[in-house]
Amino acid sequence: MRVLLHHLGPEAFVILMWFLIFDKSSSQPHIVFILVDDQGFRDVGYHGSEIKTPTLDRLAAEGVKLENYYVQPLCSPSRSQLMTGRYQIHTGLQHSIIRATQPNCLPLDNVTLPQKLKQAGYSTHMVGKWHLGFYKRGCLPTKRGFDTFFGSLLGSGDYYSHYKCEGPGMCGYDLYEGEEAAWEQDRGVYSTMMLTRKAISILANHKPRKQPLFLYLAYQAVHSPLQVPARYLERYKGIPNLHRRKYAAMVSCLDEAIHNLTLALKRYGYYDNTVIVYSSDNGGQPLAGGSNWPLRGSKATYWEGGIRAVGFVHSPLLVNKGTKCRSLVHITDWFPTLVTLGEGTLDEDLNLDGYDVWEILFPLLDDVWSGTSPTRM
Ligand SMILES: *[C@@H]1O[C@H](CO)[C@@H](O)[C@H](O)[C@H]1NC(C)=O
Ligand SMILES: *[C@@H]1O[C@H](CO)[C@@H](O)[C@H](O)[C@H]1NC(C)=O
Repeated sequence: MRVLLHHLGPEAFVILMWFLIFDKSSSQPHIVFILVDDQGFRDVGYHGSEIKTPTLDRLAAEGVKLENYYVQPLCSPSRSQLMTGRYQIHTGLQHSIIRATQPNCLPLDNVTLPQKLKQAGYSTHMVGKWHLGFYKRGCLPTKRGFDTFFGSLLGSGDYYSHYKCEGPGMCGYDLYEGEEAAWEQDRGVYSTMMLTRKAISILANHKPRKQPLFLYLAYQAVHSPLQVPARYLERYKGIPNLHRRKYAAMVSCLDEAIHNLTLALKRYGYYDNTVIVYSSDNGGQPLAGGSNWPLRGSKATYWEGGIRAVGFVHSPLLVNKGTKCRSLVHITDWFPTLVTLGEGTLDEDLNLDGYDVWEILFPLLDDVWSGTSPTRM
Protein backbone atom coordinates (compact mmCIF):
# COMPACT_ATOMS: atom_id res chain seq x y z
CA MET A 1 0.00 0.00 0.00
CA ARG A 2 2.68 2.47 1.03
CA VAL A 3 4.74 1.69 -2.07
CA LEU A 4 1.72 2.15 -4.23
CA LEU A 5 0.90 5.53 -2.70
CA HIS A 6 4.50 6.65 -3.11
CA HIS A 7 4.18 6.06 -6.82
CA LEU A 8 0.78 7.61 -7.15
CA GLY A 9 1.30 10.93 -5.37
CA PRO A 10 -1.04 12.97 -3.16
CA GLU A 11 -3.92 13.51 -5.62
CA ALA A 12 -4.32 9.80 -6.17
CA PHE A 13 -4.10 9.28 -2.43
CA VAL A 14 -7.04 11.63 -1.90
CA ILE A 15 -9.03 9.85 -4.58
CA LEU A 16 -8.16 6.47 -3.12
CA MET A 17 -9.24 7.56 0.34
CA TRP A 18 -12.44 8.95 -1.14
CA PHE A 19 -13.25 5.53 -2.56
CA LEU A 20 -12.33 3.78 0.66
CA ILE A 21 -14.60 6.01 2.70
CA PHE A 22 -17.44 6.71 0.31
CA ASP A 23 -17.78 3.56 -1.71
CA LYS A 24 -21.45 3.21 -0.88
CA SER A 25 -21.95 -0.38 -1.91
CA SER A 26 -19.28 -1.69 0.39
CA SER A 27 -19.98 0.54 3.38
CA GLN A 28 -23.74 0.10 3.60
CA PRO A 29 -24.12 -2.99 5.76
CA HIS A 30 -26.72 -5.64 5.14
CA ILE A 31 -29.42 -5.38 7.78
CA VAL A 32 -31.25 -8.43 9.09
CA PHE A 33 -34.02 -7.55 11.53
CA ILE A 34 -35.42 -10.59 13.34
CA LEU A 35 -38.68 -9.88 15.15
CA VAL A 36 -40.11 -12.71 17.22
CA ASP A 37 -43.62 -12.88 18.56
CA ASP A 38 -44.45 -13.01 22.28
CA GLN A 39 -41.07 -14.19 23.51
CA GLY A 40 -40.98 -13.33 27.21
CA PHE A 41 -38.15 -11.60 29.05
CA ARG A 42 -37.26 -14.87 30.80
CA ASP A 43 -37.51 -16.99 27.66
CA VAL A 44 -33.93 -16.79 26.52
CA GLY A 45 -31.05 -18.78 27.99
CA TYR A 46 -29.00 -15.76 28.95
CA HIS A 47 -31.79 -14.44 31.18
CA GLY A 48 -31.58 -17.62 33.25
CA SER A 49 -34.30 -19.59 31.52
CA GLU A 50 -34.68 -23.35 31.67
CA ILE A 51 -35.23 -23.06 27.91
CA LYS A 52 -32.05 -23.73 25.99
CA THR A 53 -31.17 -21.14 23.36
CA PRO A 54 -27.50 -21.73 22.54
CA THR A 55 -27.63 -19.74 19.30
CA LEU A 56 -29.31 -16.68 20.76
CA ASP A 57 -26.99 -16.85 23.78
CA ARG A 58 -23.92 -16.93 21.57
CA LEU A 59 -25.06 -14.21 19.15
CA ALA A 60 -25.99 -11.96 22.05
CA ALA A 61 -22.78 -12.72 23.97
CA GLU A 62 -20.71 -11.77 20.92
CA GLY A 63 -22.84 -8.70 20.29
CA VAL A 64 -24.47 -6.04 22.43
CA LYS A 65 -27.28 -7.13 24.77
CA LEU A 66 -29.96 -4.52 25.20
CA GLU A 67 -30.95 -4.79 28.83
CA ASN A 68 -33.23 -1.76 29.03
CA TYR A 69 -35.04 -2.34 25.82
CA TYR A 70 -38.72 -1.40 25.49
CA VAL A 71 -41.47 -2.18 23.04
CA GLN A 72 -45.26 -1.89 23.06
CA PRO A 73 -47.42 -4.42 24.91
CA LEU A 74 -49.09 -5.72 21.73
CA CYS A 75 -48.29 -6.82 18.24
CA SER A 76 -49.70 -4.24 15.78
CA PRO A 77 -48.68 -1.24 17.92
CA SER A 78 -45.10 -2.53 18.26
CA ARG A 79 -44.84 -3.34 14.57
CA SER A 80 -46.24 0.05 13.58
CA GLN A 81 -43.55 1.72 15.68
CA LEU A 82 -40.80 -0.38 14.18
CA MET A 83 -41.99 0.49 10.69
CA THR A 84 -42.45 4.24 11.25
CA GLY A 85 -40.31 5.34 14.19
CA ARG A 86 -43.42 6.94 15.65
CA TYR A 87 -45.58 6.12 18.65
CA GLN A 88 -48.85 4.49 17.71
CA ILE A 89 -50.83 7.46 19.01
CA HIS A 90 -49.53 9.24 15.91
CA THR A 91 -50.61 6.56 13.47
CA GLY A 92 -53.99 5.69 14.97
CA LEU A 93 -52.87 2.20 15.97
CA GLN A 94 -52.99 2.74 19.73
CA HIS A 95 -56.07 0.63 20.40
CA SER A 96 -55.22 -3.00 19.91
CA ILE A 97 -54.21 -5.33 17.15
CA ILE A 98 -55.76 -4.93 13.70
CA ARG A 99 -58.37 -7.66 13.30
CA ALA A 100 -59.18 -9.50 10.08
CA THR A 101 -62.49 -7.70 9.56
CA GLN A 102 -61.27 -4.19 10.36
CA PRO A 103 -60.93 -1.75 7.47
CA ASN A 104 -57.75 -0.34 8.98
CA CYS A 105 -54.04 -0.34 8.27
CA LEU A 106 -50.85 1.56 8.88
CA PRO A 107 -51.71 4.96 7.32
CA LEU A 108 -50.45 5.15 3.78
CA ASP A 109 -48.94 8.59 4.28
CA ASN A 110 -46.63 7.33 7.04
CA VAL A 111 -43.19 6.63 5.61
CA THR A 112 -41.83 3.18 6.46
CA LEU A 113 -38.39 1.87 7.31
CA PRO A 114 -38.18 -0.29 4.16
CA GLN A 115 -39.23 2.69 2.02
CA LYS A 116 -36.36 4.70 3.48
CA LEU A 117 -33.85 1.90 3.02
CA LYS A 118 -35.05 1.30 -0.51
CA GLN A 119 -34.46 4.99 -1.26
CA ALA A 120 -30.95 4.53 0.09
CA GLY A 121 -30.33 1.73 -2.41
CA TYR A 122 -31.28 -1.38 -0.45
CA SER A 123 -33.01 -4.44 -1.78
CA THR A 124 -35.84 -4.91 0.74
CA HIS A 125 -37.48 -8.21 1.70
CA MET A 126 -40.04 -9.21 4.24
CA VAL A 127 -40.60 -12.76 5.41
CA GLY A 128 -43.16 -13.49 8.11
CA LYS A 129 -45.93 -11.77 9.97
CA TRP A 130 -47.18 -8.34 8.88
CA HIS A 131 -50.23 -7.57 11.06
CA LEU A 132 -50.43 -3.94 9.95
CA GLY A 133 -53.63 -4.22 7.95
CA PHE A 134 -54.59 -5.44 4.50
CA TYR A 135 -58.11 -4.18 3.77
CA LYS A 136 -56.93 -2.67 0.52
CA ARG A 137 -54.04 -3.50 -1.76
CA GLY A 138 -52.20 -0.28 -0.90
CA CYS A 139 -51.74 -1.54 2.67
CA LEU A 140 -49.81 -4.66 1.70
CA PRO A 141 -46.10 -5.00 2.53
CA THR A 142 -45.16 -4.85 -1.16
CA LYS A 143 -46.90 -1.46 -1.38
CA ARG A 144 -45.26 -0.26 1.82
CA GLY A 145 -41.62 -0.51 0.86
CA PHE A 146 -40.81 -4.21 0.48
CA ASP A 147 -39.63 -5.52 -2.88
CA THR A 148 -40.82 -8.97 -1.87
CA PHE A 149 -43.10 -10.41 0.78
CA PHE A 150 -43.75 -13.96 1.88
CA GLY A 151 -45.76 -14.60 5.00
CA SER A 152 -49.00 -13.94 6.82
CA LEU A 153 -51.05 -10.77 7.07
CA LEU A 154 -52.52 -11.62 10.48
CA GLY A 155 -51.16 -13.44 13.51
CA SER A 156 -51.67 -16.63 15.49
CA GLY A 157 -52.71 -18.83 12.58
CA ASP A 158 -52.11 -22.56 12.45
CA TYR A 159 -48.37 -23.27 12.21
CA TYR A 160 -48.90 -26.07 9.67
CA SER A 161 -52.05 -25.36 7.66
CA HIS A 162 -51.55 -21.55 7.69
CA TYR A 163 -55.26 -21.03 8.26
CA LYS A 164 -56.31 -18.32 10.64
CA CYS A 165 -59.69 -18.31 12.39
CA GLU A 166 -61.03 -15.19 14.02
CA GLY A 167 -64.17 -16.83 15.31
CA PRO A 168 -66.58 -19.63 14.50
CA GLY A 169 -67.01 -19.87 10.75
CA MET A 170 -64.58 -17.03 10.12
CA CYS A 171 -61.48 -18.73 8.83
CA GLY A 172 -59.17 -17.82 6.01
CA TYR A 173 -55.95 -18.99 4.44
CA ASP A 174 -53.23 -16.63 5.59
CA LEU A 175 -50.09 -17.28 3.60
CA TYR A 176 -49.07 -14.93 0.82
CA GLU A 177 -46.38 -14.57 -1.76
CA GLY A 178 -46.29 -10.93 -2.82
CA GLU A 179 -49.91 -9.87 -3.11
CA GLU A 180 -51.45 -13.25 -3.84
CA ALA A 181 -52.36 -16.23 -1.68
CA ALA A 182 -49.58 -18.82 -1.76
CA TRP A 183 -51.90 -21.79 -2.24
CA GLU A 184 -49.48 -24.21 -3.73
CA GLN A 185 -46.55 -23.95 -1.41
CA ASP A 186 -45.79 -25.09 2.03
CA ARG A 187 -49.08 -26.49 3.25
CA GLY A 188 -48.19 -28.65 6.16
CA VAL A 189 -44.73 -27.14 6.61
CA TYR A 190 -44.12 -25.83 10.12
CA SER A 191 -44.01 -22.05 9.98
CA THR A 192 -40.60 -21.55 11.65
CA MET A 193 -38.94 -23.85 9.10
CA MET A 194 -40.92 -22.46 6.19
CA LEU A 195 -40.02 -18.84 6.94
CA THR A 196 -36.37 -19.68 7.56
CA ARG A 197 -36.15 -21.59 4.30
CA LYS A 198 -37.63 -18.61 2.47
CA ALA A 199 -35.21 -16.18 4.13
CA ILE A 200 -32.28 -18.41 3.17
CA SER A 201 -33.46 -18.61 -0.43
CA ILE A 202 -33.57 -14.80 -0.56
CA LEU A 203 -29.97 -14.72 0.67
CA ALA A 204 -28.97 -17.32 -1.91
CA ASN A 205 -30.53 -15.39 -4.79
CA HIS A 206 -29.15 -11.93 -4.05
CA LYS A 207 -25.64 -10.67 -4.77
CA PRO A 208 -24.32 -9.33 -1.47
CA ARG A 209 -21.44 -7.42 -3.03
CA LYS A 210 -23.65 -5.67 -5.58
CA GLN A 211 -26.41 -4.28 -3.41
CA PRO A 212 -27.07 -3.98 0.32
CA LEU A 213 -29.94 -6.10 1.58
CA PHE A 214 -32.58 -5.40 4.19
CA LEU A 215 -34.29 -8.55 5.41
CA TYR A 216 -37.16 -8.20 7.87
CA LEU A 217 -37.76 -11.66 9.25
CA ALA A 218 -40.84 -11.56 11.48
CA TYR A 219 -41.38 -15.05 12.88
CA GLN A 220 -44.80 -16.30 13.85
CA ALA A 221 -43.06 -18.12 16.68
CA VAL A 222 -43.44 -18.26 19.60
CA HIS A 223 -47.03 -16.99 19.74
CA SER A 224 -49.84 -19.44 20.46
CA PRO A 225 -51.22 -21.83 19.16
CA LEU A 226 -48.70 -24.05 20.89
CA GLN A 227 -47.63 -26.30 18.04
CA VAL A 228 -44.21 -27.79 17.51
CA PRO A 229 -42.60 -30.79 15.77
CA ALA A 230 -42.30 -33.64 18.29
CA ARG A 231 -38.51 -33.88 18.18
CA TYR A 232 -38.10 -30.50 19.93
CA LEU A 233 -40.24 -31.68 22.86
CA GLU A 234 -37.82 -34.47 23.81
CA ARG A 235 -35.42 -32.30 25.72
CA TYR A 236 -38.16 -30.70 27.86
CA LYS A 237 -39.72 -33.82 29.33
CA GLY A 238 -38.82 -32.46 32.73
CA ILE A 239 -41.13 -29.43 32.49
CA PRO A 240 -44.41 -30.45 34.14
CA ASN A 241 -46.62 -27.67 32.72
CA LEU A 242 -47.69 -28.81 29.25
CA HIS A 243 -48.04 -25.28 27.87
CA ARG A 244 -44.60 -24.35 29.10
CA ARG A 245 -43.13 -27.56 27.72
CA LYS A 246 -44.51 -26.97 24.22
CA TYR A 247 -43.56 -23.33 24.34
CA ALA A 248 -40.00 -24.23 25.36
CA ALA A 249 -39.81 -26.60 22.40
CA MET A 250 -41.03 -23.83 20.07
CA VAL A 251 -38.31 -21.52 21.36
CA SER A 252 -35.72 -24.26 20.76
CA CYS A 253 -36.89 -24.67 17.19
CA LEU A 254 -36.67 -20.91 16.71
CA ASP A 255 -33.13 -20.98 18.10
CA GLU A 256 -32.19 -23.67 15.59
CA ALA A 257 -33.77 -21.61 12.80
CA ILE A 258 -31.58 -18.66 13.66
CA HIS A 259 -28.56 -20.92 13.72
CA ASN A 260 -29.46 -21.98 10.18
CA LEU A 261 -29.94 -18.38 9.13
CA THR A 262 -26.54 -17.38 10.53
CA LEU A 263 -24.87 -20.23 8.66
CA ALA A 264 -26.53 -19.03 5.46
CA LEU A 265 -25.35 -15.45 6.07
CA LYS A 266 -21.83 -16.84 6.23
CA ARG A 267 -22.20 -19.30 3.35
CA TYR A 268 -23.50 -16.68 0.93
CA GLY A 269 -20.99 -14.00 1.84
CA TYR A 270 -23.10 -11.54 3.87
CA TYR A 271 -22.00 -12.09 7.40
CA ASP A 272 -18.88 -9.91 7.60
CA ASN A 273 -20.88 -6.87 6.50
CA THR A 274 -24.15 -7.58 8.27
CA VAL A 275 -25.88 -6.08 11.27
CA ILE A 276 -28.39 -8.45 12.90
CA VAL A 277 -30.98 -6.99 15.24
CA TYR A 278 -33.03 -9.39 17.36
CA SER A 279 -36.16 -8.28 19.18
CA SER A 280 -39.37 -9.58 20.66
CA ASP A 281 -42.50 -7.59 19.81
CA ASN A 282 -43.92 -7.56 23.35
CA GLY A 283 -43.74 -9.48 26.62
CA GLY A 284 -44.58 -13.15 27.01
CA GLN A 285 -48.06 -14.57 27.63
CA PRO A 286 -47.88 -16.88 30.68
CA LEU A 287 -51.23 -18.50 29.77
CA ALA A 288 -49.57 -19.68 26.56
CA GLY A 289 -46.30 -20.82 28.10
CA GLY A 290 -44.32 -17.58 28.22
CA SER A 291 -42.46 -16.17 31.24
CA ASN A 292 -41.35 -12.65 32.06
CA TRP A 293 -39.91 -13.39 35.47
CA PRO A 294 -38.71 -11.40 37.44
CA LEU A 295 -40.75 -8.72 35.70
CA ARG A 296 -44.34 -8.13 36.69
CA GLY A 297 -47.22 -8.49 34.25
CA SER A 298 -47.44 -9.93 30.79
CA LYS A 299 -48.18 -9.16 27.18
CA ALA A 300 -51.05 -6.66 26.81
CA THR A 301 -50.18 -4.89 30.07
CA TYR A 302 -48.06 -1.82 30.68
CA TRP A 303 -46.17 -3.51 33.49
CA GLU A 304 -42.50 -4.17 32.75
CA GLY A 305 -43.39 -7.76 31.81
CA GLY A 306 -45.48 -6.46 28.94
CA ILE A 307 -43.13 -3.91 27.48
CA ARG A 308 -39.55 -4.76 28.42
CA ALA A 309 -38.30 -7.13 25.80
CA VAL A 310 -35.50 -9.43 24.83
CA GLY A 311 -33.27 -7.61 22.37
CA PHE A 312 -29.69 -7.61 21.13
CA VAL A 313 -27.54 -6.54 18.22
CA HIS A 314 -24.99 -8.87 16.67
CA SER A 315 -22.48 -7.89 14.03
CA PRO A 316 -18.82 -8.47 13.22
CA LEU A 317 -18.79 -4.71 12.54
CA LEU A 318 -19.41 -3.87 16.19
CA VAL A 319 -16.44 -2.63 18.13
CA ASN A 320 -17.97 -3.08 21.59
CA LYS A 321 -18.65 -6.79 21.20
CA GLY A 322 -19.57 -8.70 24.31
CA THR A 323 -21.10 -5.80 26.20
CA LYS A 324 -24.42 -5.09 27.85
CA CYS A 325 -26.14 -1.87 26.98
CA ARG A 326 -28.09 -0.46 29.91
CA SER A 327 -29.19 2.69 28.14
CA LEU A 328 -32.85 3.06 27.38
CA VAL A 329 -33.51 1.79 23.87
CA HIS A 330 -37.01 1.76 22.40
CA ILE A 331 -38.49 0.04 19.39
CA THR A 332 -39.12 3.43 17.71
CA ASP A 333 -35.36 3.98 17.78
CA TRP A 334 -34.70 1.42 15.05
CA PHE A 335 -36.15 3.63 12.31
CA PRO A 336 -33.71 6.53 12.70
CA THR A 337 -30.86 4.22 13.75
CA LEU A 338 -31.12 1.84 10.82
CA VAL A 339 -31.87 4.53 8.23
CA THR A 340 -28.74 6.37 9.36
CA LEU A 341 -26.75 3.15 9.39
CA GLY A 342 -27.95 2.45 5.85
CA GLU A 343 -26.91 5.98 4.78
CA GLY A 344 -30.46 7.02 4.09
CA THR A 345 -31.90 10.45 4.76
CA LEU A 346 -34.15 11.53 7.59
CA ASP A 347 -36.32 14.46 6.55
CA GLU A 348 -37.23 17.04 9.13
CA ASP A 349 -40.96 16.51 8.66
CA LEU A 350 -40.93 12.87 9.73
CA ASN A 351 -41.45 14.03 13.33
CA LEU A 352 -39.91 10.86 14.65
CA ASP A 353 -40.38 9.76 18.24
CA GLY A 354 -37.37 7.46 18.08
CA TYR A 355 -33.74 8.50 18.47
CA ASP A 356 -30.73 7.39 16.58
CA VAL A 357 -28.93 5.17 19.09
CA TRP A 358 -25.98 4.59 16.78
CA GLU A 359 -23.47 5.87 19.29
CA ILE A 360 -24.47 3.36 21.92
CA LEU A 361 -24.81 0.40 19.62
CA PHE A 362 -22.64 0.81 16.61
CA PRO A 363 -19.36 2.57 17.18
CA LEU A 364 -18.35 1.09 13.83
CA LEU A 365 -14.81 0.64 12.66
CA ASP A 366 -15.24 3.64 10.37
CA ASP A 367 -15.75 5.96 13.31
CA VAL A 368 -12.79 4.61 15.19
CA TRP A 369 -10.72 4.64 12.08
CA SER A 370 -11.30 8.32 11.37
CA GLY A 371 -10.74 9.11 15.02
CA THR A 372 -14.04 10.93 15.35
CA SER A 373 -17.41 9.76 16.44
CA PRO A 374 -20.00 11.76 14.54
CA THR A 375 -22.77 13.18 16.70
CA ARG A 376 -26.07 12.03 15.35
CA MET A 377 -28.43 12.28 18.28
C1 LIG B 1 -49.14 9.41 9.67
O1 LIG B 1 -50.47 9.24 9.23
C2 LIG B 1 -51.42 9.94 9.99
C3 LIG B 1 -52.81 9.55 9.50
O2 LIG B 1 -52.94 9.77 8.13
C4 LIG B 1 -51.18 11.45 9.85
O3 LIG B 1 -52.10 12.15 10.68
C5 LIG B 1 -49.77 11.73 10.33
O4 LIG B 1 -49.48 13.08 10.11
C6 LIG B 1 -48.78 10.88 9.57
N1 LIG B 1 -47.49 11.14 10.16
C7 LIG B 1 -46.36 11.13 9.47
C8 LIG B 1 -45.15 11.48 10.20
O5 LIG B 1 -46.32 10.83 8.29
C1 LIG C 1 -31.99 -26.25 10.11
O1 LIG C 1 -31.28 -26.89 9.09
C2 LIG C 1 -31.29 -28.33 9.19
C3 LIG C 1 -30.34 -28.85 8.13
O2 LIG C 1 -30.68 -28.39 6.89
C4 LIG C 1 -32.69 -28.81 9.01
O3 LIG C 1 -32.75 -30.21 9.13
C5 LIG C 1 -33.56 -28.20 10.09
O4 LIG C 1 -34.92 -28.56 9.92
C6 LIG C 1 -33.45 -26.68 10.05
N1 LIG C 1 -34.19 -26.14 11.18
C7 LIG C 1 -35.02 -25.09 11.12
C8 LIG C 1 -35.72 -24.73 12.35
O5 LIG C 1 -35.21 -24.42 10.12
